[in-house]
This record gives sequence, C-alpha cells and structure tokens, in this order.
Amino acid sequence: MKSSPIFLDTKPVAYVIGDGALAYSEKLLDSYPRIIVLVDENVEKHCLPVFREQLPNVNISEVISIRSGEEKKNLDQSVYIWNRLTQAKVDRDALLINLGGGVVSDIGGFVASTFKRGIRFVNYPTSLLGMVDAAIGGKTGVDFGNFKNQVGVFADPDIVVIDPIFLDTLEEKQWQSGFAEVMKYGLILDRELWRWLYGKHFKEIEDWNKIITRAARDKIDIVRHDFREKGIRKNLNYGHTIGHAFETYFLNTGNAVTHGQAIAAGMICEGWLSTEAYELEWKQLQEIVNMFDINFDRLPLSDAHIPELLQLMKQDKKVRGGRLNYSLLRKIGKAIHNIEVDSNLVIESMKFYINN
Ligand code: GLY
Repeated sequence: MKSSPIFLDTKPVAYVIGDGALAYSEKLLDSYPRIIVLVDENVEKHCLPVFREQLPNVNISEVISIRSGEEKKNLDQSVYIWNRLTQAKVDRDALLINLGGGVVSDIGGFVASTFKRGIRFVNYPTSLLGMVDAAIGGKTGVDFGNFKNQVGVFADPDIVVIDPIFLDTLEEKQWQSGFAEVMKYGLILDRELWRWLYGKHFKEIEDWNKIITRAARDKIDIVRHDFREKGIRKNLNYGHTIGHAFETYFLNTGNAVTHGQAIAAGMICEGWLSTEAYELEWKQLQEIVNMFDINFDRLPLSDAHIPELLQLMKQDKKVRGGRLNYSLLRKIGKAIHNIEVDSNLVIESMKFYINN
C-alpha cells in the first residue's frame, strides 16, 4: 500500500512531500485565479503529461517552455519569459508554476518575483536535485558573466510539491547529480541518513520516497531557521566553495559537468580540509572519499588547472572582504561554518583530489 504524502504548513511556505503529493496538491491550487506553467522542453515532453493527468481539474491558461540546461539559466531566457508573461497580459493575481528541475525553479522564481514587482509562484520539482535542494529555501536567480547565480533574489514560493513520481523520467546523470546533495545532508547534519546510504551506489537504493522525504525535511529545517543564510544555512555550502569553482571551470570550457559531479569533488577536497584544518578524523575522511568514489568518476583535472580554479573561487558569493570562508565537517553528521582556510591548504586539498 502506498503511503500518503506529508503536508507541512511552515508559513509562509507549505510543503507536500512524498508519494501521492501531486494529486493531493490539486486542491491547494483552487484559490489562484490564473495559472501559468513554466517548463523546459524535456519536462514539457515527459512531466507535463503526468502533471495534467494527476491534476485534471487545474486549468492551465499558458504553458511557457524554455530551453533546458544550466548554460541557459541566463538573463536572455528571463527576458523571454517576462515577454511571454507581458504578451499574455498576466496580472499580479496570477500564479506561476515552476514545473522542472533546479534551472526551472531558479529562473522561474526569479522571473516571478521581479515581474510587476512580484507574482506568486509554486515549485513542482521534477529532478532529484530539485526535490531535495533547489526547490526548497527561496534562492532564485540566473548565471551572469560566467558566474553561477550571480543575479537573483531570495523569494519564497507559496507551495513546494515534492512527488517522487517524476524520478522515473530522469536520465541517470541527473539522478546521480541529486544524489550528491542527498549525501551532503548525511554529512552535515544527519548521520542516520548517511548510514542508510553508506556503501550503496545510487542505483541500488530502493526506497526513494523515504530518502527524499528525509533529505527534504533536513533542508526545510535549516531554511526555516535561517532563510537569509546568516548562520546555520551556510552549512549547506559544504563542498560548494571548491565545487562551484569546478562547476564554473567546466561550464566555461564548454564541457559542462553536472552540479552533483562538481560538488562531489568539492566535498572530497573540503573533507580533506576538514581533516587538515579542523577536527574530522582521517578514518571518516576515507569513508567519505570511498562513498563518493562509488558514485562518481573523478573529474578530468590536473595540478595545472589549480591557479585558474583558485581565481574562480575568489569570485564566489561566499567571499567576504577578500577572504575565503569554508563550511567544514567536525565529524560525519556535524558541520561548522565560517572557517577561514589558508589558500595553500586549499591548493593541497585539490592536489589530494587530483592525485589520490
Ligand atoms: N543550495 C544551498 C542553499 O539553498 O542554501
């Protein structure tokens, strides 16, 4: 028998999570007079039919389809969506449904919260990464000038509906990408989740409903306490300071890697930093490296790439007053933020990743 979804009203955001969430959410859309759906071309083909079937009474007035991929998360596509909303005479009572992965919820949330000074939006994540991370917590925006998420705003959706039904539509690479974020919750705050996952390749996991529900709730707990990333939310950046530099580097070469591939590599480097510059035990670092190596190939990097990667890191939004701050691990299941690390150690951490 299938379990019913969890309904969490955390004001100002309501969450519906788990098997059956999609159908359950239909009644929550009753109060919106006009509904526009934003998708990319893949979601339009594979997920929009599922959405229509599960929510047969929702009257969609407009479907806006954008091009897929992180490299398309830019101001040009935002302009395209603003134009489409203007042509369709969308007013401030309308609701934008972001049906898609992280790119759709990032750009859709940004466009909605700036159009006519803000229309409401809800997120229906269709990728694993969206379900456990991007759709939760109100970070919206686009890439700009070769930097990820350089322009954007914090803006909460009214509702986030997380239904594993869409996982079957995912390509393996996207599934793997989201799994890196799931593992991150285990490392930074949820040792039990880490235990559930440890030693498994993501394809061996059977109960995704349980895993997604747990990871999504971990993230909701954090963003409820620290929406604007002044403190504990920074722990979510574990693996991301170095990982974002990897991601940007490969994006700029035209051979983009997934977000998960980049931050899995970043979590190995920052795991090493946690041992060298903080108190993570070497044995636990080996456990972490082992788990990422089960699930990810190493990125094609050599020591010669390190100066450019360091340069990219200095552009990171997490840099304050020219200093690089890291979120590191004290132990598996416990993170700490605002740790300043000498750049020589950062270089060594990348060498550890590249050469071991
Ligand atoms: N993806 C990290 C955060 O939402 O803060």
